[in-house]
Amino acid sequence: MVEAFAVASGKGGTGKTTTTVALGMALADRYDVTIVDADTGMANLLFHAGLADVETTLHDVLIEDGAPVEDATYDRFGMSVVPCGTSLAAFEAADPDRLRDVVAALAADTDVLILDSPATLNSKSSVLPIVLADRVVVVLNPTIPSISDGLKVQEYALSYGSEIAGTVFNRVRGDVDGVKEKAERYFEGPTLATVPESDAVQAARSAGEPLLAHAPETPAAGAFRTAAGRLSPRNRDSETVAERFRTAVIPDPP
Ligand SMILES: Nc1ncnc2c1ncn2[C@@H]1O[C@H](COP(=O)(O)OP(=O)(O)O)[C@@H](O)[C@H]1O
Ligand SMILES: [Mg+2]
Repeated sequence: MVEAFAVASGKGGTGKTTTTVALGMALADRYDVTIVDADTGMANLLFHAGLADVETTLHDVLIEDGAPVEDATYDRFGMSVVPCGTSLAAFEAADPDRLRDVVAALAADTDVLILDSPATLNSKSSVLPIVLADRVVVVLNPTIPSISDGLKVQEYALSYGSEIAGTVFNRVRGDVDGVKEKAERYFEGPTLATVPESDAVQAARSAGEPLLAHAPETPAAGAFRTAAGRLSPRNRDSETVAERFRTAVIPDPP
């Protein structure tokens, strides 16, 4: 049984990767969780999960006659983690269409699959996670440009039949109730959490550890646990989900 989530936002730097790793670790208490760096052009999950030096990554899986995905899957912090490399040449050699099969293979063998998604919606590889996911977690910073970009992600996701799991407000300083209230009118799904701006998040990344491992007692870590608690992953038949991924038509980007 599996449910696939994409963690997405309109812009880079909002906290998608931080959120992917934090939700993954929080859910790993109760579920068999796999997180995938599907941001194949700007990969950085490897730095958040202590995998900067590994030999085989998703890039090696996505090339012609590539490695099996098991070779790029690492057990870290109670999760299965599929990192992606950072070389531009490898990104260019990687075939985004293959990502469908990779995701399908992973879906057959996990309870919760979380795809860390690219920031933009301007290429086939960047829209794929949103199209494939059952539900999308939209990561927002409490600013009008971020919310407006997040709405584009939502519109795109809904147009391909993906649901919105909810929104995570990240890097929040001070009182943003007004902004949140406005945003809640436009986004489907609940506000999953409000995560404060926190030095611990940066420190965790520098240490190559998920926030929930590095500083589990901080308010930011608590906020991500709250978000995970609100997700309630659903039981989708693994074979049906895998088949949907394998046969998905990747649309032309908007
Ligand atoms: N709540 C937060 N407080 C402080 N820094 C944060 C917070 N969330 C993310 N960051 C920092 O912002 C940067 C971008 O975060 P990241 O998760 O890599 O974003 P994205 O994947 O959306 O590009 C990282 O250096 C990260 O440590
Ligand atoms: Mg990222």
